[in-house]
Amino acid sequence: MDTELVLFIPAAQTAALYPFLEQAAEGRAELLRDKPVPCLPLAALRCLSISMHGSHEHVRLPLVYPFVRTDSFNFEPPERAAHELAGPDWLVLGGNGEDLLAFVAEALTARLKDGGQPTLRVVPYASLSGPLPQEARPEDTPFLFRKSGKNFNQPTWAKCVDQLLTLPEERWPEVGISNTADLVHVFDEALARLAPKKPRLILDLGCGLGQIARTLAQRFPGALVVGVDASSEAIAVARQAFQLPNLRYGVVDFSRPLDFAKGSVDLIVSTNALPYAQDQLGSARELFGLLSPQGLLLNHCRAEESHLFWDFPKSLALPSNTQIFLSDWVSAARESGRNTEVLSVPLGMAALYFLPNQARPFSEPLNAFADTRRHDGPGAYAPWVSHVLLAHSAQARPAAEAALPLASNHLARLGPVLGAVVAAPREIQEAAILAWICNARMLGLLPEALEFFEAVLPDSAPVLRPVLGASLAAGD
Ligand SMILES: C[S@@+](CC[C@H](N)C(=O)[O-])C[C@H]1O[C@@H](n2cnc3c(N)ncnc32)[C@H](O)[C@@H]1O
Repeated sequence: MDTELVLFIPAAQTAALYPFLEQAAEGRAELLRDKPVPCLPLAALRCLSISMHGSHEHVRLPLVYPFVRTDSFNFEPPERAAHELAGPDWLVLGGNGEDLLAFVAEALTARLKDGGQPTLRVVPYASLSGPLPQEARPEDTPFLFRKSGKNFNQPTWAKCVDQLLTLPEERWPEVGISNTADLVHVFDEALARLAPKKPRLILDLGCGLGQIARTLAQRFPGALVVGVDASSEAIAVARQAFQLPNLRYGVVDFSRPLDFAKGSVDLIVSTNALPYAQDQLGSARELFGLLSPQGLLLNHCRAEESHLFWDFPKSLALPSNTQIFLSDWVSAARESGRNTEVLSVPLGMAALYFLPNQARPFSEPLNAFADTRRHDGPGAYAPWVSHVLLAHSAQARPAAEAALPLASNHLARLGPVLGAVVAAPREIQEAAILAWICNARMLGLLPEALEFFEAVLPDSAPVLRPVLGASLAAGD
């Protein structure tokens, strides 16, 4: 198979990067060097067309080096990775020549193994221009992103079982188990307002050690409460720790169909667990099918939309394993005739968690901003809060259309995120954008990253320029 791998590299960095590309091509490919193009339109590039398994969401991007890296893809099977790299055009923004060499050599070697005669065409570009159309094209390389099926919590539970069984509950946080708090207070207001008054069957999905299921069993003595989790260790602890006549536990993988009658469940709650379901739309539809007509589903977890805010620009290309897209759950709820309230949960504010060490100075004002907005329960949705509470019920208030990120293109979500930054006080805009620069700078990408952001997201220019412009001019 003959393949042409086309790399667009910044004209200003050609002298620095070209020798590495010569090494990458040696013995693997014929190397062609084109004349520089003054302005490269993103619309002309062949792209990776990334769809998320079990989600409406998608994103179309060239292979943007080094934002898109093979080690962050969940390629299945893993050896597919290098083979996929020769399909889309590569847009190199800069970065480390050694790493680029390894990456290009890997792609070319994969083609050689297929008996191909690869060509490496290098095209220097002086500047970029947008927009980047998001409709899939025949020349695109389709790529299906799958969440990992790994249960990340399993090793933690297994390690802690002894301590959990011997220590009193109030001392559990001391042993370093972060997933054992009873977070039922996050649900309180929505429960009082939206839950059926006399629920008969309540499920806690991904219940962990079962504290929330326990509290619900105490609160609703007339209901049967069932806590399910894929971790047999967690369920073993829950069974020993909490025994009530109306409480049951089960080892269940909620990525598979659940063994409850359709329409039989009055209340489903879940805390930081549903993002692990591999087929989000499938799970959402299944769960809404289990709910009784007046039933309520309360899901407290992290959202991709917030991840875009904190982890920008890496989050441009890839979703992560531990978040949900709000749009998937809102649309599945609508299909089943339910409204969705999207609320922010104050405990989710933790800039430090998302930002690299270099960005610590900027996380302080961001955290301070978050602190001044703390409230006792869930509040209005804001894209900079990592955790959300989704309340799905026929009785829920339909959220204003504008407040809900319903576009099914992952990239399109940055509009509302940037809009939220513009609406924030000036020092918060600066802190957020400077934190993004830190993320980009870790990749050695300033100021090329700015040009890329602006080409992909033309609306971002008025937000980014004033802050970045000042810091670039100061040689920062
Ligand atoms: C972050 S913990 C949250 C535990 C608990 N809900 C809490 O708030 O303390 C995530 C839980 O989801 C469970 N989990 C992950 N994937 C699952 C699956 N496919 N089916 C059932 N449970 C799963 C894990 O075993 C773990 O107990």
